[in-house]
Amino acid sequence: PTALAGRHFLKELDFTEEEFRGLIELAAELKAAKKAGAEVQHLRGRNIALIFEKTSTRTRCAFEVAAADQGASTTYLDPSGSQIGHKESVKDTARVLGRMYDGIEYRGSSQQQVEELAAHAGVPVFNGLTDDWHPTQMLADVLTMTEHCAKNLVDDRFVLAYLGDARFNMGNSYLVTGALLGMDVRIVAPKEYWPADEVIAQARKLAEGSGAAILLTEDLAEGVAGADFVATDVWVSMGEPKEVWDERIAALGPYAVTMDVLRATGNPDVKFLHCLPAFHDLGTKVGREIHETHGLDSLEVTDEVFESAHSVVFDEAENRLHTIKAVLVATLA
Ligand code: CP
Ligand code: NVA
Repeated sequence: PTALAGRHFLKELDFTEEEFRGLIELAAELKAAKKAGAEVQHLRGRNIALIFEKTSTRTRCAFEVAAADQGASTTYLDPSGSQIGHKESVKDTARVLGRMYDGIEYRGSSQQQVEELAAHAGVPVFNGLTDDWHPTQMLADVLTMTEHCAKNLVDDRFVLAYLGDARFNMGNSYLVTGALLGMDVRIVAPKEYWPADEVIAQARKLAEGSGAAILLTEDLAEGVAGADFVATDVWVSMGEPKEVWDERIAALGPYAVTMDVLRATGNPDVKFLHCLPAFHDLGTKVGREIHETHGLDSLEVTDEVFESAHSVVFDEAENRLHTIKAVLVATLA
């Protein structure tokens, strides 16, 4: 068993800096082994439940393929296909699934629900996204950063600028993850879109130990100067009503990631990150609707940036698989 055997992963801060880095290293090893056709299965006979109260492409597929690669089985419970929250409490569900499964993934709105699940399941619980945190996404992002930057995660400071709505899962997660790992992390957004004070306080406290630099700014030029990575996320997250479109477009419009923003970093090798899904063209129903109602072809990132050589979003998406596999192997093997 590894040092992380039996542990939950409910938020980034469940792990120390060293443990987080250890997961990145393990993910890189598992990725290399898979590519070489030399993967060793550590999870044969294990069973993992995947509860999704919100929809997913990457997270679900990454858990299913990671488990299959490692010899484990999964059960997918879709947003309507279980009793959880409707007819049965989270606490009872936890005690039932804990009797049958070796680990449980949970995606939903409420951080409190995933914590409750963990408190009663008796087996490791993994947060597959809540409104507050997206911890497995952070592992994929950090692995991607290590692959696309000449800097070293241990000795150097990655410069990461996050633009957009930073009050939600992705903004919160980038801030604390950057702080945990000693990055130069910037939140670049109107003040009303910065993370909650307690999240900022957590990040500042972590920075004292890790040597991270933390900047929250409304000033785009200051925020992106010297960035190794520019990241963004959708302006309207799952579960939010259409009514917020107008205010988001008005407030966050100036923080859309364009080629000018990438040029403003002053770094010709700057890379673009996005957890996806992204609104960068008219290829979706929502995209076409926005186009009709607001006359825009993209929101948080232009198609030009998304399709450019700066964009590493599909490596980032692939890395969901290798990093989630690392979590499963580290906690369940
Ligand atoms: N990035 C991410 O979590 O994608 P899904 O919503 O498709 O899982
Ligand atoms: N902030 C987005 C992330 C999707 C992976 C959402 O919660 O919908």
